[in-house]
Amino acid sequence: MKKIINKKIRHFIDLNEIEKSQLQEIIKIARKLKKNHDVNKHSKLLPHKNLMMIFEKTSTRTRTSFEVAISHLGGNAVVMNKNDMQLGKGETIADTAKVLSRYVDFVMIRANSHEAILELAKNSQVPVINGLSDFSHPCQVLASLMTIEEVFGKIAGKKLVWCGDQNNVLNSYIHATKEFGYELAIASPEEIDFSVGEIAKARKKGAKISLHHDAKKAVKDADVIITDTWFSMGDESENNDALRQKKINLLSPFQVNEALMKHAKKSAIFTHCLPVYRGNEATAEVVDSSRSVIFDEAENRLHIQKAILLWVSNSKF
Ligand code: CP
Ligand code: NVA
Repeated sequence: MKKIINKKIRHFIDLNEIEKSQLQEIIKIARKLKKNHDVNKHSKLLPHKNLMMIFEKTSTRTRTSFEVAISHLGGNAVVMNKNDMQLGKGETIADTAKVLSRYVDFVMIRANSHEAILELAKNSQVPVINGLSDFSHPCQVLASLMTIEEVFGKIAGKKLVWCGDQNNVLNSYIHATKEFGYELAIASPEEIDFSVGEIAKARKKGAKISLHHDAKKAVKDADVIITDTWFSMGDESENNDALRQKKINLLSPFQVNEALMKHAKKSAIFTHCLPVYRGNEATAEVVDSSRSVIFDEAENRLHIQKAILLWVSNSKF
C-alpha cells in the first residue's frame, strides 16, 4: 500500500503506519474517557468541530459510535452515503477531499476500496479516518485490543487466535501484532490467502504470527478466540449461491463452537467485531456465552472513536 504523503496531518488509516506509543496513547485516552464518563466535560474537548462521514457500505456500529462520539465531544456530524454525493456520480475523490477540507475538521470514510481512502487522505487538508475498507478495519481492532486489555490487564504475551475467513479485520490484527506484543495464530483453509502478504510483511518486522489449516491445533493454549463473518461486504460469494455454498463448505471446519473452545485455555474469551451470523462463523452457544466479550468490544468502539478524534486533532485529555 502507498504511504500517505502529507505527514503534517494526523490521519488514522492503518495501525502499522502509526507508532506503537501513539496507538497506546489512543487506547489510554479511550480508557480515561470511559472511566470519567462526564459528557458535560467531554463536550468542551472538540467544540463546534465538524466530522464528515462518507459511507459506501452499510454500518450500524461505526456510524452510530462516531456520530455519538463527536456529539459527546461538543462537535457535529454530517453523514452521507456515497450515492447521495456527487462522488457517486463521478466527481473525483481528490476534488471531494479538497472541498470537504474547506468545510469540516475531519473526514471518516467507509470505502469499498482502500485506494480511495489513500487518495482522499493524499488530497485532504484535514485528518482522514479509515472506518473500514476492503483492506483493513483499524478502529475496530483498537477497540478489540482495548477490550482484551480490560480482561487480562495486558495484552503482550497473550495468544490471540483468528479462526475462519481472511479479511480486512484480520489484516488490522496482523498490523498490530508486533506493536502490542501478542502472538497471533491464524486458522483458515489452505485455499484462502487474502492476508498472506500482510502476514509476510509483519513477520519481517518481527511479529509472531503462525498460519494453520487445523483450527484445533491453532486454538491450543489460546487466550482469545476471534472470528468474523464468512461473507464480508463486497465479497462476490455473498450473493452467488454456488460460491456461497463452496465457501461455507470450506469454512465449516473453522467454525467457533464449544468443541473448539475446549482446546483453548479455560480462561479464554471469545470476541467478534459484529455483526455476527450465529450458526456460520460461530455458534449461538459461544456467541452468547459468559466468555463472549462482543458487546464490551462494541461499546469500546465509542470510547475509541472519541480517542481517535482527539488524537487526530492533537488535543489533550
Ligand atoms: N463492526 C462494525 O464495524 O460494525 P458496523 O458495520 O455495524 O459499523
Ligand atoms: N469483515 C466484515 C467486517 C464488518 C464490520 C466486512 O467487511 O463486512
